[in-house]
Amino acid sequence: MPNGMHLQDKVKVLRALYFMEVTNLVVVLPAVLAFFALSLHLINRMVRLRNLNLPPGRLGWPIVGETFEFMRAMLEDNVLRFIQERAEKYDSRVFKTSMFGDPIIVFCGPAGNKFLFSNENKNVQVWWPSSVKKLLRLSLVTKVGDEAKMVRRLLMNFLNAETLRNYLPKMDRIAQRHIDKHWKGKEQVFVYSILKLYTFELACCLFLSIEDSDQIAKLSLKFDEFLKGMIGFPLNIPGTRFHRSMKAADAIRKEIKIILKKRKVDLEEKRASPTQDLLSHMLVTSDPSGRFMPEMEIIDNILLLLFAGHDTSRSVLSSLMKYLGQLPQVYEHVLKEQLEISQVKEAGQLLQWEDVQKMKYSWNVASEVMRLCPPVSGAYREATTDFTYADYNIPKGWKLHWITGSSHKDPTLFSNPETFDASRFEGAGPTPFSFVPFGGGPRMCLGQEFARLEILVFMHNIVKRFKWELVIPDEKLKYDPMLEPVKGLGIRLQASSY
Ligand code: HEM
Repeated sequence: MPNGMHLQDKVKVLRALYFMEVTNLVVVLPAVLAFFALSLHLINRMVRLRNLNLPPGRLGWPIVGETFEFMRAMLEDNVLRFIQERAEKYDSRVFKTSMFGDPIIVFCGPAGNKFLFSNENKNVQVWWPSSVKKLLRLSLVTKVGDEAKMVRRLLMNFLNAETLRNYLPKMDRIAQRHIDKHWKGKEQVFVYSILKLYTFELACCLFLSIEDSDQIAKLSLKFDEFLKGMIGFPLNIPGTRFHRSMKAADAIRKEIKIILKKRKVDLEEKRASPTQDLLSHMLVTSDPSGRFMPEMEIIDNILLLLFAGHDTSRSVLSSLMKYLGQLPQVYEHVLKEQLEISQVKEAGQLLQWEDVQKMKYSWNVASEVMRLCPPVSGAYREATTDFTYADYNIPKGWKLHWITGSSHKDPTLFSNPETFDASRFEGAGPTPFSFVPFGGGPRMCLGQEFARLEILVFMHNIVKRFKWELVIPDEKLKYDPMLEPVKGLGIRLQASSY
């Protein structure tokens, strides 16, 4: 203590020193303790993991893992090879890898699919990478357990076959208008870009009653941007793909919000119908306890459905156009079935539910296309407890991945798996859990029936109006993130007169 200080000052200094000591103790001690606790926890975890019999595999570099190998495989449509190489090297039932900062266990084949699909809310629950969760915020994909069940039930009010059958004539009208506007009179078109206009317009009309083509085109551009940030590192800083994607999502939300506010007023004043589209259904339907979905949740769920509901079907339709262009016998068979339907209808009469039920061969063709070219490469779950699978330990919290293609091309399940054969879907069809383009279990795709109808309605109209040949005979496909033709699938059109 410096000499010459007054007693009061000395007391002050002592008090300050004491206070600093106490503050240090209060701040530093817990930090030190937390550091030790964390280190202990990590060491414990490492020791525990080392003692576990984890599935074999390679975790690769810290954080990055095998992300780049997987993304390259997606872009080269080699996801199946990525899986097969590892399944052969490690274990054909299950192996581990690491992607997007997480260790991931890949479940293979129908047994893997069955396990994950039938254990939802028991040992596992749905999980999406944080890029998806950040983009789709309050929507169904971020909900689990009872909350998810409730949202699914609410959305199924609109997406079930009973309700959708009423929208078939509207779908038919949209398909005809689309073909008149974008295909008629053309000698050559790029299928993939044009089909976006069909599937997106259909979703906009049926979900939000948007009919204005300029508004649809603008929204569609925002969706392109939005979609590109779905798979990858969620780095939200200017200049990144993810940042652009987040901004696009906000812009789309703003637009949906304007429509929603106006619709609420229109419903109150009876200018809008409670069954006119998905938005009306969501605004007027409550859960069993009488609770209505909050506005922000409605907006995020519509964003989800617009996203999930158009690029998937567009991918199937584009692969379908490829196979129908390559396989004249299949094309002729589909045409015959569709002509039998339209020949017994009055001129100008739109498609009805009964007509679509007769399109059995056409749906088998679409299913075979989805077997060979699944638009979605797979999806994720998370272990909610420690459990064992195939004698391996699966630790709680680990991410689990099922891959669509891992059973679709298995020769023990589909003979000559590379050959196009729609008859595989006749009778009882493929063995359970081997054909999974829509996933399975309680988190199975909600839009399966919607997709079936929009695909069949389009097939009906396009084969009646055109024959076509491919500009590039065997154009390659890639996942980005849906399966798409690398050069946009150019085709030469020849108008028919049915
Ligand atoms: C051929 C077209 C389609 C395919 C191949 C497809 C495929 C899939 C797949 C693989 C999943 C994940 C399932 C799982 O994790 O088990 C999924 C989920 C989902 N799909 Fe589709 N989908 C298609 C069309 C649609 C359409 C048209 C809509 C909406 C109208 C839609 C809405 C959804 C929703 C909301 C989910 C999330 C379900 C949940 O998490 O509970 N999908 N879809």
